[in-house]
Amino acid sequence: MRTQVGIVGAGPAGLLLSHLLHLGGIESVVLEIKSRDYVEKRIRAGVLEQGTVNLLIESGVGRRMQREGLVHHGIQLRFAGRHRRLDLFQLTNGRAITVYGQHEVVKDLIAARLVAGGPILFEIADVSVHGMTTATPTIRFRKDKEVLELTCDFIAGCDGFHGVCRPSIPKGTLTLYERNYPFAWLGILAEAPPSSEELIYAYHERGFALHSMRSHAITRLYLQCEPDEELANWPDARIWAELGTRLAVPGWTLTEGPILQRGITGMRSFVVEPMQYGRLFLAGDAAHIVPATGAKGLNLAVADVHILARALVEFYSSDKVDLLDRYSETCLPRVWQAQRFSWWMTSMLHRFGDGGAFQQRVQLAELEYVTSSRAAATALAENYVGLPLGWLPEASPLG
Ligand code: FAD
Ligand code: DHB
Repeated sequence: MRTQVGIVGAGPAGLLLSHLLHLGGIESVVLEIKSRDYVEKRIRAGVLEQGTVNLLIESGVGRRMQREGLVHHGIQLRFAGRHRRLDLFQLTNGRAITVYGQHEVVKDLIAARLVAGGPILFEIADVSVHGMTTATPTIRFRKDKEVLELTCDFIAGCDGFHGVCRPSIPKGTLTLYERNYPFAWLGILAEAPPSSEELIYAYHERGFALHSMRSHAITRLYLQCEPDEELANWPDARIWAELGTRLAVPGWTLTEGPILQRGITGMRSFVVEPMQYGRLFLAGDAAHIVPATGAKGLNLAVADVHILARALVEFYSSDKVDLLDRYSETCLPRVWQAQRFSWWMTSMLHRFGDGGAFQQRVQLAELEYVTSSRAAATALAENYVGLPLGWLPEASPLG
């Protein structure tokens, strides 16, 4: 088998890259270890930045999102029993976020690829990548009982944090930057109408809580928990009681309902530099992980493949390799801005076991500041709705 770009992983990064390449007249094959049903039902992120929304619309895969997604102009912060609203729309001159599940984006992208005849091979196994520094890198894999080889011009490693592409790069080539946090999130999806029209981020002495949603009938909620927490320790009644306590403000009640799905997600910051090796390009979670508090993981994956697709289109249309050579350099400034923001939101909103009373006072002071200073609120808002897709420091107005 032969293709121009072999894409490992049918998450948002791999599927969107394949779609953007198709629009640019470039062939690709997407290889995925899980089933179509599994990737279309995998519940993960839900907040799309303005730039992500614009790209999905401009590239023709935004119609259902425009119909069913929930456009939010603000978020709420709760702390010390109080409630403050940040008007994202006003603070960012008309930008907003859209709440639309990652699995819905994945469904829309798979549908678009299949309509266009784009091959996606699901349920493959034993994937390995070879010849990354040659002009014809290859991907070997097993489909049913058959061992197959896909010869490519380029390979895109869009196979997430636990994939095979990043570990295939020779040791000593990449520099790893990493931080683990001493807590995780317990997330639930509940059949209950949201108790607030907007997302609520809550700082509480018992730990962080987040109220989000997927539709007018489905709520998505998260609780800070121990990093090695067992779901078995969290019967439904305990989850609802803890959410009710942490999110409480006078006069507000949390609507409960049957829990449809639950899971525990670790909190980690991770970046590799560079994000490329020969003709292998890493994108999305394969290259970087952010703690979920800033809602940036999915959006960073989208920004990477936007840049990678542009570079590949330039290569195939004019034989120029400049953009491909500069892929890491172009992505990393924005990746580090998202890392910084996610780390800051995480630090401001979680209880750290060893932080003591001093850290608590500083966190409360920070929350007071971002909800009372227009400059601080603007800094939060412009990062939350998302920096421009190709953000570079020298292009900023103060640069
Ligand atoms: P992924 O979505 O991970 O896609 C990678 C794909 O590659 C997967 O389909 C995987 O099955 C496939 N794959 C893996 N190994 C191979 C292989 N060897 N061969 C072929 N295919 C392979 N972000 C938020 O902003 N908010 C959240 O609430 C949130 N919750 C999350 C919960 C979990 C459990 C996880 C893991 C992540 C969460 N994230 C969240 C982060 C966000 O979902 C990711 O940043 C986003 O999925 C990145 O997209 P991606 O395409 O790079 O990677
Ligand atoms: C959701 C997830 C996040 O990590 C976040 O910061 C906001 C919302 C969500 O799943 O809806």
